[in-house]
Amino acid sequence: MEHPELYNNENSMQRRDAADVLTNFLSKMFWKPKEIVLDVGCGPGDVTYEILYPILQDKIEKLVAVDKSSIMINYAKSTYNRDEIKFKIMDIEDSIDCSSYSQYYDKIFSFYCFHWVYNKEKAMENFYTMLKPGGEVLILFLLINPMVHLYKALDVEWQKYAKDIKPMSISFLSKEEIEALVINAGFRVIKIETNIKTYTFPNFASLLSAIRAVDNMYNVLPTHLHEKYSQHVKSKICDERMVNICSNTGKTTKTYLPITIHAVKD
Ligand SMILES: C[S@@+](CC[C@H](N)C(=O)[O-])C[C@H]1O[C@@H](n2cnc3c(N)ncnc32)[C@H](O)[C@@H]1O
Repeated sequence: MEHPELYNNENSMQRRDAADVLTNFLSKMFWKPKEIVLDVGCGPGDVTYEILYPILQDKIEKLVAVDKSSIMINYAKSTYNRDEIKFKIMDIEDSIDCSSYSQYYDKIFSFYCFHWVYNKEKAMENFYTMLKPGGEVLILFLLINPMVHLYKALDVEWQKYAKDIKPMSISFLSKEEIEALVINAGFRVIKIETNIKTYTFPNFASLLSAIRAVDNMYNVLPTHLHEKYSQHVKSKICDERMVNICSNTGKTTKTYLPITIHAVKD
């Protein structure tokens, strides 16, 4: 996911879901004056700047947004530069990185990042370390990373390239396993919610662009294979019926399984 502009143009589903989660959970969080807030896995920064910050601005003193990708952070800094938001490089799986902010944050938000995180136990421990006592996390991610699902369906000739995409967790965790991970990190769970959602793209090409924006396969494939690969992806999505395409309108509906975690460090 090293294409901030592409992702920025193709993340309408992610934007909608971040806004939905904030609408549903923000009033359930306990707010003190002048809180310091972290957004983990901010990507190009549009969700941080256009969705999270406007909702929080009256409550907080500072919003820090981090991502492990320097390309994403450089784009966010140059596109969404303002005094109240600090964009920084940070790998949430790196304990040394995170321990510099031990007990620093009042709230941690993370949208559509955690299904990309390889070492989820470590990341959850780092969330815990960085929160002040009484601090809360609100994490939205996909229980099944759709790219892992897609890579597993690829023909053998492409599978070998998928192996080079590191680090990326290829195992699926159940809701119960995720809950255990949150508790083992030290949190008290307030709510863990999963519900099947759908998102309808105006046409099949828009869905393919949204997938292209998060498909790290293009980082490992030689350039001359890009077109052949994208044709293969297109046919696999149809053959495996990964989406529903309306025969009249072409509108393309994807069904997926997000999970939201709201937990507190007592
Ligand atoms: C799909 S983008 C989400 C961007 C934004 N939060 C949104 O909701 O649209 C996922 C981001 O998570 C970042 N990411 C993945 N693993 C990470 C890690 N271990 N630490 C920090 N960021 C990570 C990726 O670099 C990517 O920019």
